[in-house]
Amino acid sequence: MLIEPHGGQLVNRIVPEDKQAQLLAAAENMPQINLSNRELTEVENIATGLYSPLTGFMNQKDYQHVIEDMQLANGLPWTIPVVLGVSEAQAKSLTIGQDIALTAGQEVYAILHLEDKYKYDKKQEAKLVYQTTEKEHPGVKKLYQRDNILLGGKISLLKKIDHHRFRHYRLEPSGVREMIKEKGWERVVGFQTRNPIHRAHEYIQKCALEICDGLLLTPLVGETKSSDVPVEYRIESYEVVMDKIYPQDRMALTVFPAPMRYAGPREAIFHALCRKNLGCTHFIVGRDHAGVGDYYGTYEAQELFDQFDSDKLGIAPLCFDYSFYCKECNSMATKKTCPHDSDFHISLSGTKVRGMLRAGKKPPKELTRPEVAEVLVKGMAQ
Ligand code: ADX
Repeated sequence: MLIEPHGGQLVNRIVPEDKQAQLLAAAENMPQINLSNRELTEVENIATGLYSPLTGFMNQKDYQHVIEDMQLANGLPWTIPVVLGVSEAQAKSLTIGQDIALTAGQEVYAILHLEDKYKYDKKQEAKLVYQTTEKEHPGVKKLYQRDNILLGGKISLLKKIDHHRFRHYRLEPSGVREMIKEKGWERVVGFQTRNPIHRAHEYIQKCALEICDGLLLTPLVGETKSSDVPVEYRIESYEVVMDKIYPQDRMALTVFPAPMRYAGPREAIFHALCRKNLGCTHFIVGRDHAGVGDYYGTYEAQELFDQFDSDKLGIAPLCFDYSFYCKECNSMATKKTCPHDSDFHISLSGTKVRGMLRAGKKPPKELTRPEVAEVLVKGMAQ
């Protein structure tokens, strides 16, 4: 039996093929909003059900509940606003109840059925969602760049994005759920990452797999900050080891097409709910999940899960301590499992590893497999 999607039903806002032509023709006379790539991706994520139970961009009631109480107006846990911003001038020209064509380039991708338009307080959102109002925070920076009025309403998707990258790893939520059913996995653990695979990832993935039937790797391929490792090398890092390090009948890789928010604890809950929609029963939360700089405590994301009613969340976090290589244990370990002094431990921050790669240096083999190091040095060296 597959786990239920968040809210009980997988949202599907994709217009059936036989209705598309009629709506596309009608769209010619609708007001238009031109979307950025990031917004277009969000439209598709809503339409395919990745963000179930959301059926569109949030109205003011949901938005306010989400930022203040980490739940939708109906009481379901939800921690990250999913919104569409437009300028005040554009908002003025639109009327509630109207259908609006959402375009990119010259093409109509979706219709927004406008239910709400509202002002919002960016500083309040920054403080509550990101715990900081500093514009240096990459998530807050994006928020400050967003237009001043938000539009709420259901969307209907008319055209899918022509994803030319990672086609092979793109399965919509219904397809992932089908695959899990076929594989016969009952307990499925999801893994989020915005980095190339390293030994600590591998360690916690495999520990999790010891108590689950299948491992669903879902590397994030949406927008990230420019200092992160480019997505093609992150995916290639998995490709060069995938066949060698995982039993093929126990794992699958499907990309997670959302942008990175760097919202730490709140994003960890959001990441977990999206994986629940993919059919995961468990979700890995390690150290400083979705964090950036020093904005969040090492285990703050894990602690936030305790604030929710586990039945309402519906997906169980599998929490891991900071993992490192211990020369005395001769293996990966954490403080929970290793009795030795930290002098024996090898660990490097992501920032340090990226610095090494840019200088053309390979990270130590205890932390990064040689095949992976090769891909990364090739891709990152300047
Ligand atoms: S994230 O921003 O997408 O969370 P990252 O790719 O660094 O970033 O991490 C993916 C997952 O692995 C997260 O759950 C993170 O907490 C966990 N993780 C990364 N490195 C370690 C480590 N050394 N020890 C324990 N957990 C880790």
